[in-house]
Amino acid sequence: MRLFFALWPSASERQALLQAVQAPLQAVRGRAVPHEKLHVTLAFLGEVPPARLPSLLELAAGLASPAFELVFDRLEHWRRARVLAAVASALPPAASQLADALRERLVAAGFRPDLKPFRAHVTLAREVEASAATAMPAVALGCHEFMLVESRTERSGALYSVLGRWRLYDAENT
Ligand code: 2AM
Repeated sequence: MRLFFALWPSASERQALLQAVQAPLQAVRGRAVPHEKLHVTLAFLGEVPPARLPSLLELAAGLASPAFELVFDRLEHWRRARVLAAVASALPPAASQLADALRERLVAAGFRPDLKPFRAHVTLAREVEASAATAMPAVALGCHEFMLVESRTERSGALYSVLGRWRLYDAENT
């Protein structure tokens, strides 16, 4: 099974994000990501044998990490990946700590996550050959939980199912 850890914006946050990028998104040729599929990938695992799912769930449950806010304030066109993405230009320490802790524990447990440094982004459209737009009004996402998601490829596109979700603790209540 093809798995990744992600942050999932609420419906109202996804709506705000889409509103903020409406004009540049309409201006590109490509395949817009349906709004319910907009997410932030925290760690991409790739193919994982189903028998390893319990140890993955246990690993995630053992992470105690504080909640944080991501502010998406920039558009970027990634030429090689051919995507238009909304990017958070500042990364709160709690966000990089969570992404780093996940990578470290995954490697230690014998998984093979993508080890590229975490870049907080939401892919807005795929198969985008060009886009010069970089400006967008800032949109904040409150990140209070992270999830493990299975991705299946169907004819209609990627299908995501949430296999587990874990709260990030509220730093103000500690
Ligand atoms: P994205 O986050 O840039 O959109 C499921 O495939 C998710 O994992 C997608 O959202 C995808 O890209 C992300 N992802 C991150 N690294 C990946 C990789 N090496 N291969 C495929 N998908 C990857």
